[in-house]
Amino acid sequence: MEGVVTRPMSSQSVNWTRVNELLSGIMARWERKEGRKGLPGIHSYEWATPRDLANDQSMGSKFIEPGLPAEETALIVSLRKGFGSIPRMPMGGPFLKPHEIDEIAQWIDSGMPE
Ligand code: HEM
Repeated sequence: MEGVVTRPMSSQSVNWTRVNELLSGIMARWERKEGRKGLPGIHSYEWATPRDLANDQSMGSKFIEPGLPAEETALIVSLRKGFGSIPRMPMGGPFLKPHEIDEIAQWIDSGMPE
């Protein structure tokens, strides 16, 4: 579409800087909408490194299990649709767009590059 810039180009790989920008951006929007920070003790809401993100967990699910295809990771399932009684994340929205979740999935499947 004219005037619309989509990133990244399909030939570029997604790096941590981009994934962090997507996650911190959607959390900033959530905090603006709710007028508060997320409650402590559920899981983190910001992640300084790929390892912090992968090792975060909630309800017994680690966000990213090594070797598991991205679409089966708790992180991607939570962002796309949620599991059972646990709603899609961030809870209540706003949500990442499907193509943005695709970028995060691509990053996981390419080995979570810095
Ligand atoms: C394994 C993945 C995840 C699981 C299992 C999970 C689980 C949960 C649960 C159980 C809650 C509390 C629900 C309630 O209060 O009824 C919650 C809240 C929340 N989660 Fe997640 N979550 C996951 C990933 C994420 C991610 C990746 C984000 C952000 C991008 C996120 C953002 C939030 C927010 C903003 C809340 C609301 C906190 C509040 O009300 O203070 N979650 N999550």
